Amino acid sequence: MTELHTSQPLGIIVNGATGRMGYRQHLVRSLLAIRDSGGVPLPNGTKQPIELYLVGRNAEKLKEVAEAHSIKRWTTDLDQALAAEGFPIYFDALITQLRVPAIRKAIAAGKHIYTEKPTAESYAEALALAEEAEAAGIHNGVVHDKLYLPGLLKLRRLIDSGFFGEILSVRGEFGYWVFEGDWQPAQRPSWNYRAEDGGGIVVDMYPHWNYVIENLFGSISTVYATTRTHIPQRVDESGSPYTATADDAAYGIFELADGPIVQLNSSWATRVNRDELVEFHVDGTRGSAVVGLFSAKIQERNATPKPVWNPDIPDPRDYSATWSAVPQNEPAENGFKLQWIEFLRSVLGAGEHRYDFRSGAAGMLLAEAALASHEQGRKVSLTEHAQNLIGGPQ
Ligand SMILES: NC(=O)c1ccc[n+]([C@@H]2O[C@H](COP(=O)([O-])OP(=O)(O)OC[C@H]3O[C@@H](n4cnc5c(N)ncnc54)[C@H](O)[C@@H]3O)[C@@H](O)[C@H]2O)c1
Repeated sequence: MTELHTSQPLGIIVNGATGRMGYRQHLVRSLLAIRDSGGVPLPNGTKQPIELYLVGRNAEKLKEVAEAHSIKRWTTDLDQALAAEGFPIYFDALITQLRVPAIRKAIAAGKHIYTEKPTAESYAEALALAEEAEAAGIHNGVVHDKLYLPGLLKLRRLIDSGFFGEILSVRGEFGYWVFEGDWQPAQRPSWNYRAEDGGGIVVDMYPHWNYVIENLFGSISTVYATTRTHIPQRVDESGSPYTATADDAAYGIFELADGPIVQLNSSWATRVNRDELVEFHVDGTRGSAVVGLFSAKIQERNATPKPVWNPDIPDPRDYSATWSAVPQNEPAENGFKLQWIEFLRSVLGAGEHRYDFRSGAAGMLLAEAALASHEQGRKVSLTEHAQNLIGGPQ
C-alpha cells in the first residue's frame, strides 16, 4: 500500500475531472473548496493541505480546467498518474461502464479509493471489487451524498430525537423533466438514456435509495418496481437522434424488515410541482415531516388539523400553512464536500468513513432486484435475489 506523507500535501488523483459530477461537485465544490481553505480540517484544529492530479480523455479540456484552477498536474494517461510519487488517493467519476477496470488498476497500484456510485454495473462485480479492495487493505469509499444534504441531516435529527414516534410510511418523489435534446439541449448526458452504455434511472437512483432507506429507516427486505421508458427517442450532444433504450422512470415499493413501508417515484419525465427536486414525506404516529434537499417542515400530532371531506364546497383550509419549518441551525455545507472530508480524514487516521465498497455493492443489489421485479412482475426478496446472483447470502 502507498505510504502517506502527511507533512507533504496529500495527493489525490481525480479521474473524470471534466465530467458533470467530476467537475462541478467533486472538483469545484469539494476538492478545490478544501484546497483553497487550507486543506482537510482535522479534529485537532490543524489542516492537511491537498494536491490534485487531473485525469481525463480530452487534453484540451483538462488543460483549460487545470489552468483555470491553478492545478499543476494533469494527464490523459491514467497509468502515468497512478505511477506518480505523492498521490496515494484515487478518485473515480468516470461513466459507470469504465469504473471497474480503472478501479482495479488503482487497487493494483496500492491507492486508497473513493468513487462515484454505482461501483459496478452488476452486484456480483461490485461485490468482487469490495472483496479485492478489502484484500488489498486499502481505504475504500463510495459517494453517499444524499445523506449529507442539509434536508436529510434535519431528517436524521428528527428521527434521532424521537419526533415521529413510530414511523409508519415514507413517500418519496424524485425527478424533473429532462429535455429531449431537440428544441433545447438535454441537461443530462445522453449515455444516461442508453442501457447499452450503462444508463437507466434504476441503476442511477436505486443505489442512492438503498443507502438513504437503510441509513434512515431500516434494512430493505423486498422491492416491487415497475419501470418505463416514457420518452423513447432523444437527441444527443452532437444533435443526432438516438433510441432511448434505458428506463427513464421507476415506480417502486420497498418493504423494510422491521419498519415502515417506503414508496419512491423516480422520473426524468415529470414536471416539478414541489418545493424541491427530491422530497420525502414521512408519516409517524406522533408527527410527520416533508423533507427536501435543503428544507424540512414538520407537523406534530397535537398541531394536526382535522380535515373533513366535503366535495360540495372548495376547501377553505391552507394545509401547507399548518406546517412549521425546521430551522437551519448550522451553515449549510455542500454534501459532497462533507463526505470528502470524512473520507480524507479516515485515510489520514483522523476519523471514520462509514460507506465502503460493500455498501456500494448493496446499492447495486437493490437496483438489480428492482429490474428483476419489473421483468418478472412480482415482489423480489433481496436475500433471495443475492442468492440467485452469487449463489449464497453475503
Ligand atoms: N452522486 C450523484 O448524485 C450522481 C449524479 C449523477 C451521476 N453520478 C455518477 O457519476 C458518474 C459520472 O456521471 P456524469 O453525469 O458526471 O457523466 P459525464 O458523462 O458528464 O462524465 C463522465 C466522465 O467520464 C469520461 N469518459 C466518458 N467516456 C470515456 C472514455 N471512453 N474514456 C475515458 N473517459 C471517458 C468523460 O470524459 C467524463 O469526464 C456516473 O457513474 C454516474 O452514475 C452520480
